[in-house]
Amino acid sequence: MRGRTWAAGGTALGLAALILAAWHVASSRAVAAPTDEREVQAGRALFATHCATCHGEGGRGDGASASGFATRPSDLADGRLMNGLPDEFLVSVITHGGPAQGLAPTMPPFDRTLSADQIRRLVAFVRTLAKPDYRGGPAGLARPPRAPKQPIFFNHVIHAGSFQIPCQYCHADARRSEYAGLPSVERCVGCHKIIGVADNPEIGKIHEYARRGAPIPWVRVFKVPEFTYFPHKAHVRADVACQDCHGPIERMPVVGADTGPALTNDLAHLVGLHPPSRPLTMGWCVECHRRENAARATRAPLDCVACHH
Ligand code: HEC
Ligand code: HEC
Ligand code: HEC
Ligand code: HEC
Ligand code: HEC
Ligand code: HEC
Repeated sequence: MRGRTWAAGGTALGLAALILAAWHVASSRAVAAPTDEREVQAGRALFATHCATCHGEGGRGDGASASGFATRPSDLADGRLMNGLPDEFLVSVITHGGPAQGLAPTMPPFDRTLSADQIRRLVAFVRTLAKPDYRGGPAGLARPPRAPKQPIFFNHVIHAGSFQIPCQYCHADARRSEYAGLPSVERCVGCHKIIGVADNPEIGKIHEYARRGAPIPWVRVFKVPEFTYFPHKAHVRADVACQDCHGPIERMPVVGADTGPALTNDLAHLVGLHPPSRPLTMGWCVECHRRENAARATRAPLDCVACHH
């Protein structure tokens, strides 16, 4: 009897909780949905006016003037490609035009025509076009310090984030050698024989290097001194993620990093502070080796000759 009363009480409580939860959901919808829906509808109208002639009403890249472009206006409904791009990327391209992210200048800038709010509404609308559905994208773009100016604006957000080309497709030596390696011009040309050549000057540069038989003079970002030995192979095989050491590369329009010893850190140590070791310093290597060995019984070396020989 008692048991039943409890059970009934439990049910009543459960019901009350359910009703409360339902009310909560309903009320939060009641607040959130119409504004979102209004944003999307406003975005839809803006899209029809400013974008549809190239991208098409449904965003499929099939607008009336689309056929005039060698690089087809993007299919904004292709969720496989669009969902991997942060809002910030879309805002940047719409505001400043394709070249802001290395894309073709045939995607025009709208900073003189549209306000920031209007562009936000356009992005809200564009997200509703995606198939498969857009369910919240990656965090914003990563803007690392000390990114050098590269000979070609190569954007990892497009290659690794949107098209999801595997890191090791381009950095193919990482698993088998000391170096990760950079792709040869031929490897770029393999994909870019057609893609983007006609109207993207950044892609045009690839072909100039290929014609001259010259390698692309990429500026190195991550580098340890000559007297240290760093093998990629051991780390990749031990399942240390590229991002653990290099940061969220797939969200970086340009790669950069603040690495190596710095006087300020050394001084902080001298006066007894313990700031975290800067990336690519000896302390950084050794601390991770200790941590990994303790956490998952790896055998990352701590003896001097393993890294200095
Ligand atoms: C004159 C034609 C034209 C108009 C107008 C135009 N676009 Fe584009 N857009 C393009 C082209 C071409 C590309 C592809 C560029 C590339 O791939 O290099 C593009 C690319 C994009 C991209 C990048 C997507 C990706 O693949 O990463 C976005 C986002 C975009 N457009 C949104 C818009 C929005 C929103 C509008 C209206 C405000 C608009 N575009 C108006 C031609 C146009
Ligand atoms: C596996 C195929 C593939 C390979 C390999 C590849 N790309 Fe791309 N690349 C693409 C695709 C797809 C796009 C997007 C084209 C578009 O939407 O306009 C792109 C876009 C670009 C763009 C314009 C956007 C940006 O990133 O600035 C540049 C420049 C570019 N690639 C340079 C390179 C270089 C340099 C290499 C060699 C190091 C390379 N690509 C290798 C497929 C590839
Ligand atoms: C389509 C080819 C391609 C893909 C895919 C690619 N990269 Fe790159 N990567 C490059 C090129 C070209 C450079 C040199 C230009 C630059 O620094 O942006 C580069 C540079 C780098 C650098 C800096 C190298 C240096 O100078 O120290 C790192 C680190 C890196 N990539 C990691 C990654 C990771 C991690 C992924 C996967 C999330 C990835 N890359 C995917 C082509 C590629
Ligand atoms: C344990 C840390 C660590 C991991 C994990 C790691 N790297 Fe590196 N990477 C470095 C260091 C340190 C350098 C500088 C090496 C040097 O100067 O010889 C470097 C250099 C590079 C370079 C510059 C060119 C070269 O060959 O040295 C590229 C590209 C690169 N890494 C890509 C990757 C990719 C892609 C992955 C994942 C498959 C990866 N790295 C995983 C630490 C790491
Ligand atoms: C994010 C963690 C991490 C960082 C940072 C790191 N390592 Fe490692 N390292 C490892 C792990 C894990 C292993 C593999 C241990 C195993 O195979 O059991 C390893 C292995 C090694 C090995 C042994 C290679 C072999 O063939 O056995 C060397 C040498 C090495 N690391 C050098 C370095 C140097 C130099 C740096 C700094 C520039 C560095 N590592 C930074 C995690 C790290
Ligand atoms: C896991 C890899 C690793 C191990 C183990 C290691 N080192 Fe280093 N060491 C480095 C790296 C990377 C650098 C370069 C970056 C820097 O100066 O912090 C370096 C730099 C140095 C330097 C130059 C410092 C300077 O200020 O220019 C000396 C000296 C040195 N190591 C000695 C040692 C000695 C002695 C041991 C053994 C007790 C040792 N290292 C163990 C990775 C290692």
